[in-house]
Amino acid sequence: MGMTKRDFLRSIGAVAGVGATYHTMSAMGLLGPVMAQATAPELPLGSGYGKRVVILGAGISGMTAAYELSKAGYQCTILEATGRAGGRNLTVRGGDVIREVDNRQWVDFDQEDHLYANMGPARIPYHHRVILGYCKEFGVELEVFTNDNRGALFHNAEAFGGKTVTGRQVMTDLRGYVAELLAKAVNRNALDEELSGEDKEQVLAMLTAFGGLDPDHLYAGSNRSGYQGEQVHAGIAPGDVNDPLDFSELLKSDFWQYKLHFSQFLNQNPTLFQPVGGMDAIAKAFRARVGHLIQFQSVAEEIRKTSQGVRIVYEDQRRNQQGAIEADFAICTIPAPVLKDIPNDFAPETQAAIESIEFEHAVKIGFQARRRFWEEDHAIYGGISWTDQDITQIWYPSNGYHQRKGVIMGAYIWDDQPGQGLRFTQMTPPERLRTAMAEGEQIHPGYTDEIESGVSRAWLNVPFQKGGWPRNYAAPPELLEPDGAIYFAGDQATALPGWQEGAALAAHAAVAAIHARVTAS
Ligand code: PHE
Repeated sequence: MGMTKRDFLRSIGAVAGVGATYHTMSAMGLLGPVMAQATAPELPLGSGYGKRVVILGAGISGMTAAYELSKAGYQCTILEATGRAGGRNLTVRGGDVIREVDNRQWVDFDQEDHLYANMGPARIPYHHRVILGYCKEFGVELEVFTNDNRGALFHNAEAFGGKTVTGRQVMTDLRGYVAELLAKAVNRNALDEELSGEDKEQVLAMLTAFGGLDPDHLYAGSNRSGYQGEQVHAGIAPGDVNDPLDFSELLKSDFWQYKLHFSQFLNQNPTLFQPVGGMDAIAKAFRARVGHLIQFQSVAEEIRKTSQGVRIVYEDQRRNQQGAIEADFAICTIPAPVLKDIPNDFAPETQAAIESIEFEHAVKIGFQARRRFWEEDHAIYGGISWTDQDITQIWYPSNGYHQRKGVIMGAYIWDDQPGQGLRFTQMTPPERLRTAMAEGEQIHPGYTDEIESGVSRAWLNVPFQKGGWPRNYAAPPELLEPDGAIYFAGDQATALPGWQEGAALAAHAAVAAIHARVTAS
C-alpha cells in the first residue's frame, strides 16, 4: 500500500477522530494488545509545540489530558468552574465546608488521618490499569479496599421478620439450596438429555462440594455459615452450627437481585484498592503536576467554533469579569447535565447526544462514630451491609482498624428506583442525617447513639455536577468523535461511567486523537 503505520493513523485520525484512532491503534498493537489502556499515549516530546488546547473541567479527566498534552509541549489551560481540583473526586475531613446548590455543610469529624469520607469515588478495581498506573507513577500509596465481607449484614424489611442475617449465612445457604435443587433434578433424571451418565456423577460430586451437601445430596446447613451464639467459629469444642436460613424467606428477600452477587460484577471484583488517607490523594497528585495550568472559578458561558479552532467565553468569578480564550482545540469534560445548557455551536446531533445522557441521583452520607461498634460488636472489618431501605448500604472503613473512632458511609444510593436518591436529595442536610440514622437502627440497634456527626452529598444538587454519573452504560457515539475542534472526555465519553478509569481513558483517547490530527496537518 506504500503507507506507513503513521500515515495510516494520521489519515484515520483526520477523518474519524478519537474512538476510531484509539481503537485502530489498539487493534494494530500500538497500545499493546492486552493492556491497551495501561499506558498513556506517549506523544513525542515537543510534538504539540505551538498548539493551544483549552480544557473544560479540572476533574480527573481534564487533569489527565493536561498532564499528557503538556508533556508533549502543548500549551494547555484548564478552566475550572469551582475553586477546587478533582471534580467528583472529593474527600472530606474535619473542618471542611462543602456546598450544594442550596446548602452548606460543615464537616465536624475529628482531625485524625483515618477520619475522612470519600464522598465521590471510593474504590478502584485491580484491572483499572490507567488510574492505578498514575497512582504508581505519582507515588500515591494504596491499600486494599474491602468490598465483600461475609461478616457484614443483609437486611430486608419483608424477610426474616426484618432481622439482619450475616453475609456468610446468606451466601452459604442460598448456594446450598440451589445445589440441592439441581442435584434433585439430576437424580430424578430431569437432565438426562444434557448430561451423560459419567457427567451426572461428576455434576453430583461437584454440587456436593459446591453447596456443602450431605451424602444424600441434601442441604441441611453447613458450618460455612458459622456457629450459633457470639462465637462465629468452632472454638475449642465445636458448638452448634447455624441452622440454615429459611429458603422461602431468602427468596422473599431482595438479596439475590444483585446484592448477593455484587462482587461478581467485573468492576466490583476483589482485589480493589483505595489510596491511603483518602481518594483525593489522586486529585492532589494531578494538581501538583498541572495546578499551574488551572484557572479556578472560571465558569464556561459559551463554547464556540472559530475558523482557527475554538473560543470559550467564561465568567472569571475571582475578578468578577468576563474572559475569553481561543485555542486550536478544546477538550470538554463538563458533565452532560451542565453542558447541555451552555450556549454552544455544537452540531444538532452532538447537542442531542449530550441531552440524552441522564445522570444517577447518587447520594452518600458519611458518619463519624464515637466507637467502632461494627468491629467491637460484630467483627466486621470493612465491607458493606445491605438493606432494602432507602440508605441501601452501610460501608465500614477499610482503614483505621482498632482505632477508637471511625467514619462509616451511612448511606450510598445510586439506584433511583423507586426514587430514594431523589428523596434524599430533596431533604435538608439535617433531615438526611436523621433519616439515615433511623434506617441504620434497623441494621445496628443503638446506631443513633453511636454517631457523633455526619455529612451528606447529593450529587444531583451539586453546582457544576448535577448528578452522580451517566446511567447509560455506553456513551453516545457522537461523544466519541470531535465536533469540529471540540473533543469530549470525562467518564461520560466512555463505557465506564462512574469510574475514574473512564475519566482517564477518555482523556487518553482525546489526547491521542488530537495528536493524530496535529501530526496529520
Ligand atoms: N464506581 C461507583 C461505585 O463503585 C459507581 C458505580 C456503581 C458505577 C455501580 C457503576 C455501577 O460505586
